[in-house]
Amino acid sequence: MFKPINTQRLILRAFAPEDTLTFATYRNHPAVAKLQMWENYSLENARNLITQMQELGQPTQHHWYQIAVTLEGQLIGDLAFKLEDRQAELGYSFDPQFQGRGYATEAITALLEYAFSTLALHRIHATTDPRNTASIRLLEKLGFRKEGHLLENLWFKGVWADDVLFGLLAREWRATR
Ligand SMILES: CC(C)(COP(=O)(O)OP(=O)(O)OC[C@H]1O[C@@H](n2cnc3c(N)ncnc32)[C@H](O)[C@@H]1OP(=O)(O)O)[C@@H](O)C(=O)NCCC(=O)NCCS
Repeated sequence: MFKPINTQRLILRAFAPEDTLTFATYRNHPAVAKLQMWENYSLENARNLITQMQELGQPTQHHWYQIAVTLEGQLIGDLAFKLEDRQAELGYSFDPQFQGRGYATEAITALLEYAFSTLALHRIHATTDPRNTASIRLLEKLGFRKEGHLLENLWFKGVWADDVLFGLLAREWRATR
């Protein structure tokens, strides 16, 4: 089972069935869904994802593993993590009510520490839409390096869209600690 991670203000923990409604509600918020792959995020989508996460139990090679971010017991966001040998891809979404207060930075900092120390990963990468300025700012603040701008590499909501690729090596992470 995924062992909860405590930060100064937050707890990162496994998803539970009680998270279903809050999870579906903020994922459906237009500001959250706009630059993500989904159009509508139904209760059934949320229920299925939480069931899959319970079956996986912990970050597992070649699967996305979603982690709940909670503040005083309330779900405020999620982090996604896909392990590929000693590398991983990172994803994240936060409830708009809880954005702009450093929670995403705090949660991802803890996840990166877990990934590079406990899981001994070598590199983590993330891709984001070039229009997603909040996401790009967040990655740069965390120390991610822009590795490339991929032109029209994604069929996204009816058009070819660009992606920006960011990477962070374990040694780069340690150099900032
Ligand atoms: C991308 C996303 C997670 C960014 O979250 P966020 O809430 O902006 O991130 P944070 O709150 O950690 O940091 C941002 C701001 O909080 C401010 N902040 C306030 N209090 C803070 C604190 N105690 N510590 C750190 N930052 C704080 C920072 O100044 C920062 O602003 P700046 O970037 O202008 O410097 C969020 O916009 C989101 O969920 N978007 C929708 C989903 C999405 O697009 N996901 C990405 C897919 S690739």
